[in-house]
Amino acid sequence: MIVAIDGPAGSGKSTVAHAVAERRQLTYLDTGAMYRSVTLRCLREGVDLADEKAVAAVAAAARIEFSAGEKGQTVLLDGQDVTADIRTPEVDRNVSVVSAVPAVREVMVALQRAVADSGDVVAEGRDIGTVVFPSAEVKVFLTASDEARAHRRAVQREGGDAAKDASATADAAEEQQILDDIRRRDKLDSSRAESPLRAADDAHRIDSSDLTLDQVIDQVLALVDAAREGKAAEAKPEAEAVAKPADEAAAKPEAEAAAKPAKKERVSAAKAKPGEGHMRAFAGNSFEDYYDHGMRDYPLPARALLACVVCLVGAVTKILWPWKFEQGELMWEESRGRVLVMNHVSMLEPVVVVCSLWFHGQRVRPIYKSEFDKAGIVTWLFSRVGGIPIQRGSADLKAVRRAQRALQRGEVVLIYPEGTRIKTDEKAPIHGGFALIAQMGKAPVQPSAVVGARDITRPGRFFKKLGRVFLKVGPCIEFSELGVKGRKQQAQKMEQVAMDRVWELRDELRRDHPGKM
Ligand code: DC
Repeated sequence: MIVAIDGPAGSGKSTVAHAVAERRQLTYLDTGAMYRSVTLRCLREGVDLADEKAVAAVAAAARIEFSAGEKGQTVLLDGQDVTADIRTPEVDRNVSVVSAVPAVREVMVALQRAVADSGDVVAEGRDIGTVVFPSAEVKVFLTASDEARAHRRAVQREGGDAAKDASATADAAEEQQILDDIRRRDKLDSSRAESPLRAADDAHRIDSSDLTLDQVIDQVLALVDAAREGKAAEAKPEAEAVAKPADEAAAKPEAEAAAKPAKKERVSAAKAKPGEGHMRAFAGNSFEDYYDHGMRDYPLPARALLACVVCLVGAVTKILWPWKFEQGELMWEESRGRVLVMNHVSMLEPVVVVCSLWFHGQRVRPIYKSEFDKAGIVTWLFSRVGGIPIQRGSADLKAVRRAQRALQRGEVVLIYPEGTRIKTDEKAPIHGGFALIAQMGKAPVQPSAVVGARDITRPGRFFKKLGRVFLKVGPCIEFSELGVKGRKQQAQKMEQVAMDRVWELRDELRRDHPGKM
């Protein structure tokens, strides 16, 4: 869930956003602090603020991180705590100029989206509801009279809190100077060409001039709760979901882990890259870039490598374990993104699925346990063949969102809901994260099954036996055909129906190929 709180300086955004984040266990993202940090670094380095190129270079190089400190959120600039230094009058005076530079905004917006990728956020700023997160579930535009805002800031500078103490006063001259500064900044922030301060059309406007802090917070909390229970109920199933990696790793996103305030997370501006556009070859692409991008946007060398691996491994496995897909056309002729689920016996199945779909022009994203990433070469290879790692034992929302975006791009997300290679007929517990991922990606679930792989991978033996392997695919299951209402109920039903079909398909294969397990 994304909660966007915009408004002019001194409208109380920070206090409100912080309180909402704390009470609803969301990540608090102070975007103003990011522009302030860039400004501070420019001032420290003596950069001419009129030189947009130089300012943009500072933004690109700056490493801005947030971490939870004892007294609230700490802002780190290049590893140094600048929480207090970014709030000086000098930074106040110059930040509007820096934040008006389009290239600076580009870098900051990418970083802000990267933060939201890893969890639910309350972001506050000027352009959150209009530019950064236009589809935020809750949008608030917080205002207050110029005088009320100047008074709050003046009291704040003297160590008080006007929101809590109505009788708090501040030095009159200082207050007047702040008022002038606020008006000047409002004008600059609202009139700049790039992402000017304005309320999104669908934002809830709250004028806090005559409201207490608690009243404002309560209004925003009510909007968040309504959104959670209503249309944007995605947040809830996410917390309750049990997502599952393709292999042994059962990723168990637990509610409390999902609720973990991600404010502890550190994010780096230099690393932020949206998963959009083509990746360039030899551009220092990170593993994350591969996970975030569509496979057709991979650089040419990576696509060529995948083609070679698919041809080689496809041919070798076909010779050693002649594998055959039954009803394969149900898979090859389906062009939509979908979650493909299967029973899991050996490492042969993901290989076969990736290869055969590749030959039919479809790209597969196998979800695999992040423990495989211990060896750099494995991570390197898996990233090139479309793998997406998922962390077990935690609500790996980042992986869930990556899978969601893959589905939206039309890629096939391959998940083994049993979570482990099952070499007997024991019933393994099923983890329903696949249904949630399908739901989030607005995609169907396609069941499939394998037999024969158990015969070739005997327990405790390193060497594989030769033998035939059969796979069978069923038609896609749509959420609309489940006959239940409510997102959570639909996800649960999908989990059950899809796995029943997987086992039915496996039993049909066993019937048609006697002796195959
Ligand atoms: O909210 P604040 O006062 O800390 O913001 C500092 C400056 O950064 C303010 O002048 C406007 C700018 N800003 C922006 O342009 N876009 C944002 N999303 C947040 C802040």
